[in-house]
Amino acid sequence: MTESFAAGDQCLLIDGKKRRFLLRLQEGGSFHTHHGVVDHNDLIGTEDGSRVVSTGGAEFVVLRPRLSDYVLKMRRGAQVVYPKDLGPILVYADIAPGSIVLEAGTGSGALTLGLLRAVGPTGRVVSVERRDDHADHAKKTISRWLGGIPDNLELRVGEVEEQVLDVRPDRIVLDVPEPWHSVEPATRGLGGGGVFCAYVPTVPQLQQTVESLRMSGCFEDVLAFEALLRTWNVQGRSVRPDHQMVGHTGFICVARKVVPGRPQKESESEDSDSISVVTEEEEFTAQ
Ligand SMILES: C[S@@+](CC[C@H](N)C(=O)[O-])C[C@H]1O[C@@H](n2cnc3c(N)ncnc32)[C@H](O)[C@@H]1O
Repeated sequence: MTESFAAGDQCLLIDGKKRRFLLRLQEGGSFHTHHGVVDHNDLIGTEDGSRVVSTGGAEFVVLRPRLSDYVLKMRRGAQVVYPKDLGPILVYADIAPGSIVLEAGTGSGALTLGLLRAVGPTGRVVSVERRDDHADHAKKTISRWLGGIPDNLELRVGEVEEQVLDVRPDRIVLDVPEPWHSVEPATRGLGGGGVFCAYVPTVPQLQQTVESLRMSGCFEDVLAFEALLRTWNVQGRSVRPDHQMVGHTGFICVARKVVPGRPQKESESEDSDSISVVTEEEEFTAQ
């Protein structure tokens, strides 16, 4: 049984043209469209999945937003991690109930919300952000979604590289421009088998991250990949990929912390085979 909407809840309206509107319900509030008004009071008390009609006769489906809806619609400071990348990051960095995660930068808080959901109440997320304004913004976006800052989240303002030894996480998840600066601290502060995960938008950043991991001699099982999401149009006999897609967002790089081995020379790390790429064949074999 789903709880009915209350004042303060986030509410997603979808119209007949599949346009999506995210509202925060307020007693006496109103949502204005080209097709009239929907009073918030008409939404408060309704159930997830109901329908409402505006004063101009437009019908909207009324839904409690998923985290992916919120991330795409929430007010942004820094560029967020898109939902298509959130899933793979959580799975490949192996964020599980009870994990202790060091994250940076907090940015807009989108990845933080995904991490919090995955670690659950028995886990802990320490999220570090170097910019005060981004940290303040993230605090608001996180509070709006969760109704406050949960006990298992610590927001710190500073440089992530300086926090690794203090937090001693079992997972490090970075969405910062220079994740390789955290590799050396991670060789000392990340537990054996721990996961180092970096999300970077460009090839040189990916290359430098992987090289730093390899040169440290303390990381193995390095995997670099990107996730492509292609939505489909399914209408009658027109069943085909949509014309537009998000072509590129970022690369995901994950590696496991191991006891120190022989540091690799740069020439060895230039070997293209040394960076794992998930192929369809491997994926199939792994199942
Ligand atoms: C792309 S944004 C992160 C967005 C975030 N992952 C999200 O989903 O909303 C990158 C953030 O990292 C912060 N940053 C960059 N270098 C940092 C560092 N060394 N330590 C902490 N924060 C850092 C930036 O100020 C910026 O807010």
